Amino acid sequence: MRKILYSREHFQKRRNQLKELMAEGEAFVLFSTPQFSRNSDVDHYYRASSDLFYFTGFEEASSVFVFTPGQKKETTLFVHPKDPKFETWEGFLFGVEGAKSEFGMDQCFSIKDIDQKLPEVLNSSNKVYYKMFDQDLHDRVMSQALQKVKRKTGRSGKGLLPIVDPSSLVGQLRLIKSDHEITLHKNACQISAEAHNELKNYAKPGVTERELHGLFLFEIMKRGAAREGYPAIMASGNNATTLHYRFNDAVLKKGDLLLIDAGAEYNYLTGDITRTFPVGGVLEGAQKDLYNSVLKVQEDLVEKVQVGTSFADLNSLADKMLAQVLIDLKISKQSVEELIENKDIKKYYPHSLGHYLGMDVHDIGPYKDIKGQNTPFQAGMCLTIEPGLYFPENMQGIPDAFKGLGVRIEDDILVTKEGPVNMTVAAEK
Ligand code: GLY
Ligand code: MN
Ligand code: MN
Repeated sequence: MRKILYSREHFQKRRNQLKELMAEGEAFVLFSTPQFSRNSDVDHYYRASSDLFYFTGFEEASSVFVFTPGQKKETTLFVHPKDPKFETWEGFLFGVEGAKSEFGMDQCFSIKDIDQKLPEVLNSSNKVYYKMFDQDLHDRVMSQALQKVKRKTGRSGKGLLPIVDPSSLVGQLRLIKSDHEITLHKNACQISAEAHNELKNYAKPGVTERELHGLFLFEIMKRGAAREGYPAIMASGNNATTLHYRFNDAVLKKGDLLLIDAGAEYNYLTGDITRTFPVGGVLEGAQKDLYNSVLKVQEDLVEKVQVGTSFADLNSLADKMLAQVLIDLKISKQSVEELIENKDIKKYYPHSLGHYLGMDVHDIGPYKDIKGQNTPFQAGMCLTIEPGLYFPENMQGIPDAFKGLGVRIEDDILVTKEGPVNMTVAAEK
């Protein structure tokens, strides 16, 4: 038997919340992410899809969850059936009976029977929440099921069941974390912070970026993390000016700035921390001026994470503050207004201030509602605040001292009625 994360009641509560948002007769269908990369016969590590885990706690591949609130059987899970040969090679499977009893489902079926059973489960529905175009295979299964349902309605005049993207439904729920999720999320953040501190002590001239990545994985796994929440960025020198630098294969040089953006995933919640520091020395000259300026902007903006403000508010503030830094450091001769008006600020700060954080690093959740109104920060949201400035070594028209420097500082913030709580404060700056 495999360990099950969280209690059964936890997932039941989430399904009850989903039910509140669904109208009578609606169905909700979630496919797991595919297990294997078919490039070779190596099965790469599998991680359950965030949404499927969120509503069921089920972690096995080849599963499909169907929620039909109000019907006699509200919860259905299609799973990989027990298979001794498969399990000899790949390990334990809950199977149809195990999934039903251990995950509190009303009914479970073998995934091999999905073509026959899914239309039966959807037969009395009037609308289906389903995310199209994620996987061709899933779309084919859904399309066949919906055609079968349509055929069954005969000459009733009903067409194909309407399909609606569930993202906004799920996004609303995942945006606000429960107390239990916040406890776990703080743990993910603390683990990430402690690992960052270990890396800071280890990073010396001659060490490779890849070594740092290995050490990060070791430090987070030692503390109970299952994996990293996203591919870590270990970017020294000019590499720090590539936002999603992934090669991680350079050797650290004395005097380089090192930008580390890495986070641990703990119980399906991820940390996301960036720290920038000098290799084998202290900050001096342009590096120091740039670092201190970005730090000041970051700290000021963290304080502004209050109930009722929004990413839209803080993004425009961040643009102005970083534009002012460019002027103060004599990097740009333009005014704040010009830098923003002609978008030149984005040459040096190409990303936005932050994002929601949760089961996924760029977590699902609406930044605007359907009327286009900005989503205000509410207690229980987790998000990042991560201003940065980047000056690739071949950038023209800036003082030489800044060429090849990239600085980003990122913390994970919990919104509360009492103000922002920095969940990654333990990572040294
Ligand atoms: N690590 C990805 C990000 O900071 O958005
Ligand atoms: Mn981030
Ligand atoms: Mn990050």
